[in-house]
Amino acid sequence: MSANNRVPSQLAAPEPTWSVETDVVVLGSGAAGLSAALAMRPVRDVLLITKDTLDAGSTNWAQGGLAAVLDPNDSIENHVQDTLEAGGGLCDEQAVRTLATEAPTAIRYLMQLGASFDPGLHEGVALTREGGHSHRRIVHAGGDQSGAEVQRTLDESVRLAGVHVVERAFGLDLVIGHTSEGTRAVTGVKVAMLDSSGGVQSVGIVNARAVIIATGGYGQVYASTSNPSAVTGDGIALALRAGLEASDLEFIQFHPTVLWRGSEATGQQALISEAVRGEGGILLDAAGQRVMKGVHPQEDLAPRDIVAAAISERMAQAPAGVDDHVYLDARHIEKFEERFPSITASCLDAGIDPRTELIPVAPAAHYVCGGVKATLNGTTAFQGLYVVGEAACTGVHGANRLASNSLTEGVVAGTRVGRALSWALPPVATPDDTETPGGLIDSYHRTALRSAMSKYVGVLRTPEGLDSASRILNTLSSNMSATVVPTRKAFEATNMLTIAMAVVEAAKTRTESRGCHRRIDFDAPSDSWNHHLSCRVVDGQIEVK
Ligand code: SIN
Repeated sequence: MSANNRVPSQLAAPEPTWSVETDVVVLGSGAAGLSAALAMRPVRDVLLITKDTLDAGSTNWAQGGLAAVLDPNDSIENHVQDTLEAGGGLCDEQAVRTLATEAPTAIRYLMQLGASFDPGLHEGVALTREGGHSHRRIVHAGGDQSGAEVQRTLDESVRLAGVHVVERAFGLDLVIGHTSEGTRAVTGVKVAMLDSSGGVQSVGIVNARAVIIATGGYGQVYASTSNPSAVTGDGIALALRAGLEASDLEFIQFHPTVLWRGSEATGQQALISEAVRGEGGILLDAAGQRVMKGVHPQEDLAPRDIVAAAISERMAQAPAGVDDHVYLDARHIEKFEERFPSITASCLDAGIDPRTELIPVAPAAHYVCGGVKATLNGTTAFQGLYVVGEAACTGVHGANRLASNSLTEGVVAGTRVGRALSWALPPVATPDDTETPGGLIDSYHRTALRSAMSKYVGVLRTPEGLDSASRILNTLSSNMSATVVPTRKAFEATNMLTIAMAVVEAAKTRTESRGCHRRIDFDAPSDSWNHHLSCRVVDGQIEVK
């Protein structure tokens, strides 16, 4: 394959030399995948594979917490309305209602499993606020280590329940087949076993009645992100290659405040949780002026897309000559180091004492609102394939996710699909006998890809910038070859390229500004765009509709 503007139909990999059978295979080990595995384990044989260690994904890094109505002065309706408002007109209201209604149960369930949330007055737990929430409803743990507590709880539960966990196993491509009635179905997944440096030890097929994709988002397609290095869009790329549709890929949420450590800093950046603003933190520009004053009625606690855009616009004005960061003033927050221990540690590590100094911050890629089209029960267009968590587009987030709805969604959706698969597995299907040629790009292309995405497909987008990004990505795709040495990093680079090309095509197509998708040439949402865009791979090319 040498033409540019193309994505591979499969990842190039050595021939499979082994196969195993299981009822259900789960790809990914964050809140969604672990919840799914746990919920079905009592009656199913479950194999959970993860390309790194169990805790290497985004869940472990989440700071703020889990949104759930536990205060009698709050209501499910408030949570629904806040989520719809943040979502910029593109949420699926029924999915939002289900999430908000089941969120309190999800918290109680995690507590039953042993999660230790910070203590307080509402069912024994403390609640904080974050952007876009009209009430305090964010459950947190260890101050700002909420995700780590969820990860610990689910890791332990999954292992105790007897889920078969295989680390350093990379899900390459779905195996597609048909039922005896001729229904198209997923019958398993091709997997590469990796050595400790990411080389391929062997390739095999996991045959399963159901495959659950729970591989998270794709923050790592950007040069600066709050996401850990493992978050490279693998499950979404794999689904696109298999012919599934992915929706809302252009809506990438930029967290307004990661710790700014110089404009050359790349990779995972330390998050400065929105809960810092929930506890009273204020954004200031380099000239000491408030960034959010007059921008939105909720000021520093406006929905995240609005805060990130306001910061980017202020940086573009370069107050006091500073165009690459603003500041967060948290000096007045009492016992800051107790409430935010890991943020305090990150700041001190960078030579900043948040108790006495302003924290330099800038937006960075944080969460993807889109993903593979799926219901909140994980079901997709293909029999036997389920997608949950950040990899799924369920309509819960619309054009901009409400803060702390994602861990909650992971637990709710994961548990729902797990329960459904306990009840019944999909009908038996037989794999098709087809050979599809594979391709890969070399891992070193990731640097150019990330830099193009950050430069041209960031918080504020222009048509010229998006065209430049397309040109760079197309050039990278012309390096696709079946002879690139297969490694974890080459698999990831190829998946990142597939995703980045789809994101750019969708961003070019959506000629409006809505939620996390802001175009300089369109200053507002347009009624004619009040719908979703879906991407598919057709004959090796990204098609947007
Ligand atoms: C944060 O702590 O600010 C992040 C919370 C989230 O992204 O939901």
